Amino acid sequence: MADVTSWREAGSAAPAPGASGASGASGASDAGARALARDVRAGLQSTPRTLPCKYFYDDHGSRLFERITRQPEYYQTRTEQALLEEHAGEVIERVAPRELVELGSGVGRKVRLLLDAMRARGLLRRCLLLDINALYLRRSVAQLAAEYPGAEVRGLHGDFQADLQRLGPGGGRLVLLLAGTLGNIVPRRLPEFLSQVRALLVPGDGFLVGVDLVKDRARLEAAYNDRAGVTAEFNRNILAVLNRELRADFDLGAWEHVAFYDEDEAWIEMRLRSAADQRVTLPALGLACDFRRGDEIRTEISAKYTRASLEARLAGSGLRLSRWWTDAGQRFALALLQPDVAPHDGSDLPPGAAGFPSGSNG
Ligand code: TRP
Repeated sequence: MADVTSWREAGSAAPAPGASGASGASGASDAGARALARDVRAGLQSTPRTLPCKYFYDDHGSRLFERITRQPEYYQTRTEQALLEEHAGEVIERVAPRELVELGSGVGRKVRLLLDAMRARGLLRRCLLLDINALYLRRSVAQLAAEYPGAEVRGLHGDFQADLQRLGPGGGRLVLLLAGTLGNIVPRRLPEFLSQVRALLVPGDGFLVGVDLVKDRARLEAAYNDRAGVTAEFNRNILAVLNRELRADFDLGAWEHVAFYDEDEAWIEMRLRSAADQRVTLPALGLACDFRRGDEIRTEISAKYTRASLEARLAGSGLRLSRWWTDAGQRFALALLQPDVAPHDGSDLPPGAAGFPSGSNG
């Protein structure tokens, strides 16, 4: 059986009857459209200007990302797939999950390796996919429901950072975050995100993360500047999303794709650079933005980790590194995180007891 729930619509006030909203091909809810408007306004008015990367993934953007994963320079997908083929059985044996939850599932191909390992051991009961793109989510849920008839397959349409707590309590749960998506969270925010995931788990549960590793600049930069130009098209597509959803008038031809590795931050930064002096209007926001030639908008960061730098971010999250697998070339890793064994009954530590550095947010 299969169904898809929109968290936004299920969780808050029902959309006004007859509200047309700005739901485009991605089927964004009204609340989703309001969030987009709020995020874009804040991002374009901040210094430096930014746009949240989750808005890349409308239907066209999701398709473009699929093409990125097949580019010869983009080693991540192939490497992660091989690691999963090799180690899925061991992950499942260690966690013995009856429920698999994939955050940011996309087309959801790799999840099968884990579902197969669960089914082979008679464990598989439930599979939950969470994605920002409703069309891809519906498709993946329907496909998995057909392929795993014994399992309850559900989709949750939402943003895995904002909507995580809606997953409810764990127990027999394995959460997945693949495709280097962890890197798209600003590293200083990672401990907070990890504690949120920790709250969805009980001791013995697991959080399996695909982690792109620090490596030489040339290889990293090539992965985000593919020769076929697919990443450039993907990057500019966020402007097409704003044109459609916010009636903006970005001229996609007047923006250059920029992606470079910032060694101090250990992240790839993706930007769009204005090729001319130009004014862009966003009537839905009552906003006009002036750009000089060379001005940039930051659209994405993709942080790279080492085992040590990841473990440093785990401090205070309530999760510990339980297993770490890498390929021979040390390009990519699978990290299995599990709850710290609590001193007494496994319940959560009281706030403040988890060792967060104080004053980390204003
Ligand atoms: N999670 C992927 C990554 O960080 C997403 C990604 C790949 C991406 N290429 C991109 C995001 C280009 C924006 C632009 O590698």
